[in-house]
Amino acid sequence: MRVLIVGSGGREHALCWAIAASALCDALYCAPGNAGIAREAECVPIKADDIPAIRAFARNNAIDLVVVGPEAPLCEGLVDALTADGIKAFGPTAAAARLEGSKGFTKDICAKYAIPTAAYARFDDLARAQAYLQKVGAPIVVKADGLAAGKGVIMAETRDQAEAALADMLQGGGFGQAGAEVVMEEWLHGEEASFFALVDGENALPLASAQDHKRVGDGDTGPNTGGMGAYSPAPIVTPAMTGRVMDEIIQPTLRAMADMGCPYRGVLYAGLMITESGPKLIEYNARFGDPECQVLMARLKSDILPGLMASAEGGLRHFDLRWHDDAALTVVMAAKGYPGKYDQGSEIRGIDAAEKIDGVTVFHAGTAMKDGKLVATGGRVLNVTARAATIGEAQAKAYQAVDKIDWPGGFCRRDIGYRALK
Ligand code: AMP
Ligand code: GLY
Repeated sequence: MRVLIVGSGGREHALCWAIAASALCDALYCAPGNAGIAREAECVPIKADDIPAIRAFARNNAIDLVVVGPEAPLCEGLVDALTADGIKAFGPTAAAARLEGSKGFTKDICAKYAIPTAAYARFDDLARAQAYLQKVGAPIVVKADGLAAGKGVIMAETRDQAEAALADMLQGGGFGQAGAEVVMEEWLHGEEASFFALVDGENALPLASAQDHKRVGDGDTGPNTGGMGAYSPAPIVTPAMTGRVMDEIIQPTLRAMADMGCPYRGVLYAGLMITESGPKLIEYNARFGDPECQVLMARLKSDILPGLMASAEGGLRHFDLRWHDDAALTVVMAAKGYPGKYDQGSEIRGIDAAEKIDGVTVFHAGTAMKDGKLVATGGRVLNVTARAATIGEAQAKAYQAVDKIDWPGGFCRRDIGYRALK
């Protein structure tokens, strides 16, 4: 098979790494990729959101399967465009990707299909939103409806904070079109968990559990990021919990999407709050988590390509995947300053030494080669990933590898996995 991966982060490097290992893969391309991805795939200089160029490349290079990593091209209809050309694609159509692209869309499905989630209301009018806030009070969560690169959620502890968020989104244009509508919802309490399932429109196959750390600082402090590290398995997602999440959240969602004429295919990523009364849906994403994908790929024993094909073609009913019993853990190394302003172009050395440690793979999230040197080109730059018998051992190995990497321009959290080790 000739495969094209779309994206340039650590998630896409992990997908390339797994697909490159498949006996079914004859040729592997990545658009646009990065310096690490170039070890597994031929990188082509096409941006992930350049739908016409990706479509033309896939057609001209006889691509059999396109695997879309990030949400933006999914929401903009990349899979629809490829399907129209008769090219198979892993990922949802634009209509199905609304599960990530519009929080209000997802909340309305939850209401109609009795899927457990936080109580909510939708507004596009500031005065009405303020009146609702007067009625329900704080604490409350205010969310931009559309895609906001993980920044569109304001956890308002006071009414003033909620007022400010509403004004910023509905009046100040703080989140552009994404904030032209807001969702206000109940603040849930419990432990968070990420849940992933492969979906073929009708059937869903849960993947191994994984959990990320969203805050930038040790002890889960400081601003939110895309994720500073992840581990798998996540002890809170027991087999019994997996059963409940499938029955109460995932399956009703798939029925809803099919009923609306936009069946969901691809990977469905549910952000959950495990509350006293059971799992509740916080949000959906229409793609793999980044860096959760990295630990899932590290633990996957089966060839991934048949799974991706079964999702794209509708064959998951009798499909299964096998996983290593080992745990996996990944530490994100980011450029100093992230998630705020950060410098680019600093040199990174020592990755070879890190990868000499048994079970360690360094996925690249934002790197390039410049004048023969490996340099940082993003906020999140490396994902130092280790597999070992337990989360504790994987953590020790990952940090041993981190300490081999010579990158004065970078930093990482030193406590990834601590919740699972408590
Ligand atoms: P989201 O972008 O919707 O995943 O939200 C980002 C983060 O905000 C989540 O991972 C949670 O930590 C938090 N969050 C979002 N909605 C809620 C809620 N209703 N109650 C508590 N925490 C929430
Ligand atoms: N790690 C969180 C995300 O991919 O959205």
